Amino acid sequence: MNILLIGSGAREHAIARALHSSPQKPQLFCFGSNRNPGLIELSRVFTSGSVTDVETITAFATSHSIDLAIIGPEAPLAAGLADALIARGIPCVGPKQKLAQIETSKGFTRQLLVKYSIPGCPKFEVYDSLEGAAGFLAELGENFVVKYDGLMGGKGVKVAGDHLHSHEEALNYCRELVESGGRFVIEEKLIGQEFSLMSFSDGENLAHMPPVQDHKRAFVGDTGPNTGGMGSYSDADHSLPFLTEDDLRQARSINEATIDALRAEFGEKYIGILYGGFIATGDGVKLIEYNARFGDPEGMNVLALLESDFVEICNAMIDGTIGRLKVRFAHLATVCKYAVPEGYPGAPVKGQPIDISEVSHKEQLYLASVDAKNGQLLEAGSRTAAYVGVAATLPEAEAKAEAEIRKIKGPLFHREDIGTADLIRKRVEQMKLLRGK
Ligand code: AMP
Ligand code: GLY
Repeated sequence: MNILLIGSGAREHAIARALHSSPQKPQLFCFGSNRNPGLIELSRVFTSGSVTDVETITAFATSHSIDLAIIGPEAPLAAGLADALIARGIPCVGPKQKLAQIETSKGFTRQLLVKYSIPGCPKFEVYDSLEGAAGFLAELGENFVVKYDGLMGGKGVKVAGDHLHSHEEALNYCRELVESGGRFVIEEKLIGQEFSLMSFSDGENLAHMPPVQDHKRAFVGDTGPNTGGMGSYSDADHSLPFLTEDDLRQARSINEATIDALRAEFGEKYIGILYGGFIATGDGVKLIEYNARFGDPEGMNVLALLESDFVEICNAMIDGTIGRLKVRFAHLATVCKYAVPEGYPGAPVKGQPIDISEVSHKEQLYLASVDAKNGQLLEAGSRTAAYVGVAATLPEAEAKAEAEIRKIKGPLFHREDIGTADLIRKRVEQMKLLRGK
């Protein structure tokens, strides 16, 4: 079986490892933007290029007789890569362009939730001009968020109190978005704890993965600019310390209702990973956003626990049999920490050498934005490498991740606090206050 994997970050390194450990022994063909040595090692053929170059990738797939493609990042989904591969008879884990709007258009997603009466939607309005924006901001008062209605690598969202300090600043940002030709969404700011619930989807049924909590802020104590995600954790009981059984039930049922809504809306099945970005609030679980792929880093937490054959899961998503498959995850805790270049995310150093030789248990080290030249690993400008500690309890998993990520030498930094008892306790306490108990 020949499998094509698109993307070359740590998430894709984790997907490649999951494929590699399949008893079906697939051959891996990888197309990525940087020459990640971790992926090169696992691939029969590795080619680098633009992951949105649909024509080149489709030709690459055809020339290698690909049986199945897995699309890691969002940009190729937005560019219609799944449509082009499916048109050539190559089934795809990753939805078609119009179904991927669940990630690429925040306005589309909010309107879908309303149209199909799916719970968990905050108050919102979608705009393509400033008309009405000031009135809606007045209605929301202090708790508002302004979002660009398209992909902006997480940088299109501005939250009151964090990035915007008055309605005037909010309107200026709205004006900026309109002037650059974009629609935007204004919505109610939600207060609580965020978590990611990813589900394998065959378009009708879902197999849910354990929930994970990511850390978007760059620095210790959840300070500094937003990033792609500095690290994440999951717990051995397949819940999170601040979640109730009912919170998880609500999140699962929102993902399920969304898959049904997408099928009703387009008459087509959503095949791939549905990633719900949720927030547990004092008033139940709400949806912040959807992504149409594995989270990065969250994908590493769950794939590190996966006991079932990943190739079989991919086939079941494509064949429509995910509901019959028992997808198993180990009952262990995971803590993932990213080492990122100094200056990340604003002005990351680039081209600097790093040394991973002291890292033990490299099977849980995932290379990301790394290039290799003459046997030397070089930082390629974005998140560099992640380490996933896996253990019976969160403190043990955290200790492992911290001990190993520190051993990577180079102009890098990481968040020492991710997965620590102290940070988790603060989150549990915040939720207790919000729930009023
Ligand atoms: P998004 O790209 O929609 O995930 O937004 C990025 C981040 O902005 C989220 O992870 C949240 O931390 C924050 N955010 C987005 N929407 C809201 C909201 N309605 N209320 C509070 N925070 C939000
Ligand atoms: N960890 C956030 C994302 O993958 O979008």
